[in-house]
Amino acid sequence: MKVLVVGGAGYIGSHAVLELIKEKHDVIVFDNLSSGFKDMVSEQATLVIGDIRDKNALNTLFKTYPGIDIVMHFAAKIVVPESVVEPLEYYSNNVEGVRILLDAMQENNVKNIVFSSTAAVYGEASGVCFEDDATKPINPYGETKLATENMIRWVTQAHGMNYLIFRYFNVAGADSSLKIGLKKDQLTHLIPVAIQALIGVRDKLMIYGNDYDTDDGTCVRDYIHVSDLAYAHVLGATYLVNGGASTTINLGSNQGYSVLEVAKTVQQLGNMTYEITERRPGDPAKLIASNEKAQTLLKWQPKYGLKDIIKSDFEFRKTLKK
Ligand SMILES: NC(=O)c1ccc[n+]([C@@H]2O[C@H](COP(=O)([O-])OP(=O)(O)OC[C@H]3O[C@@H](n4cnc5c(N)ncnc54)[C@H](O)[C@@H]3O)[C@@H](O)[C@H]2O)c1
Repeated sequence: MKVLVVGGAGYIGSHAVLELIKEKHDVIVFDNLSSGFKDMVSEQATLVIGDIRDKNALNTLFKTYPGIDIVMHFAAKIVVPESVVEPLEYYSNNVEGVRILLDAMQENNVKNIVFSSTAAVYGEASGVCFEDDATKPINPYGETKLATENMIRWVTQAHGMNYLIFRYFNVAGADSSLKIGLKKDQLTHLIPVAIQALIGVRDKLMIYGNDYDTDDGTCVRDYIHVSDLAYAHVLGATYLVNGGASTTINLGSNQGYSVLEVAKTVQQLGNMTYEITERRPGDPAKLIASNEKAQTLLKWQPKYGLKDIIKSDFEFRKTLKK
């Protein structure tokens, strides 16, 4: 396949690029480098720097690289607290960006899109999430992803295009080469934050609340290794290009771990201090993906478990020392 990966210089996109290259696909990356890094893009892919809100740049891209079978989208702004403070930026980048991308795809006769959505569309739902469950985002980030999902459904239906929407749960870990991984200035996700506490980049891990309705009182989440997630994109793109029907699929492990379980698993690697503090608003007690649909439709199953994910993030973070 000839694949255009928008946002392919970022954390998840760069892993998808790597998995596509491993499977011998032809990859073009389009990225404005706002939160991505040139050196995260495989040398075997072609990197074009630009913004998806620039339709001329997209038209030029589609003309320069004709015959693109499918577009994979990762080009979003993703920081929840920032989205609360700067919602217009999020609507511009995440919704308007995809509107322009779809417009350019349609004009250039590119028929297939894989879109990176999120468990945040389920909002404060608690328990095991199925794809047909109600969607009720509780912040602008989740709202922009849901609005974009809906736009993709309407636009692809109107213009004879096809889509696969993937809703990711908690992504962590790094490719085994340790050349790419999550390297943001302000990390907020539990596993990398706990690893930072382990390697001394921060003092301790804060655990928000231990009075939830779960076995040990801390929140339960579903974790997925970024390489498993990336590989699902190769399967998904192949499915769509081969005529699979448009649909929405959760990508998670089907398995919940509490924050305390994660902290204790991290402590198996060395000294890591944690402190339990007040609950944060908006944290559901339990959020787990049903991944039955991904298993049935794509024959996908995660290879890595929680210990592997933690070890992998640890190894990567040691290379950064931050
Ligand atoms: N990281 C997670 O845990 C997580 C969870 C659920 C969903 N997602 C989704 O996965 C996708 C990728 O997330 P990530 O963690 O890799 O983020 P990231 O910030 O590492 O990557 C985003 C990439 O897109 C690029 N980009 C952003 N806006 C752009 C634009 N307008 N034009 C061109 N390029 C642009 C950035 O430079 C960056 O390289 C996002 O759509 C996000 O909503 C991520």
